[in-house]
Amino acid sequence: MAYVKLNFVVITTIMMAYMHFPTMMAATAYVFGGAYKWTLPPIPNFYKEWTKEKKFFTFDRYYIWFKKKEHTFAEVESKKAYDTCNATTALYVVDDPGGLVITLKEVGVYYFFCTLHCKEGHKVSIEVN
Ligand SMILES: *[C@@H]1O[C@H](CO)[C@@H](O)[C@H](O)[C@H]1NC(C)=O
Repeated sequence: MAYVKLNFVVITTIMMAYMHFPTMMAATAYVFGGAYKWTLPPIPNFYKEWTKEKKFFTFDRYYIWFKKKEHTFAEVESKKAYDTCNATTALYVVDDPGGLVITLKEVGVYYFFCTLHCKEGHKVSIEVN
């Protein structure tokens, strides 16, 4: 359910961005984790390293690819929840990845993790400029 709702929001967002801000079509698309995608990190700081050389902007698109039942994708609002891998107040937890793409509409820091492997470093924070 969360997944269906999320995709609706995302698609609506992308369409509105195209209609109102044609220049936004230049927004960058990323796959979380690059070639590794969204999975157990090969080294503990893998996702942090992945973000290091990148500068993210509003309306960039992020594709999240993982195998169903092997991982999840959750967003939390607080750094504390992110640091402690606490999904109690997660905005959503997606367990079926089919076609999952998100956009971050406002400048700020966003926190994501896999509820199954967060403590093993399967987490990423994105600073949107
Ligand atoms: C997780 O977060 C909730 C809500 O903030 C809090 O009540 C709970 O104690 C936290 N759990 C742990 C294990 O820290």
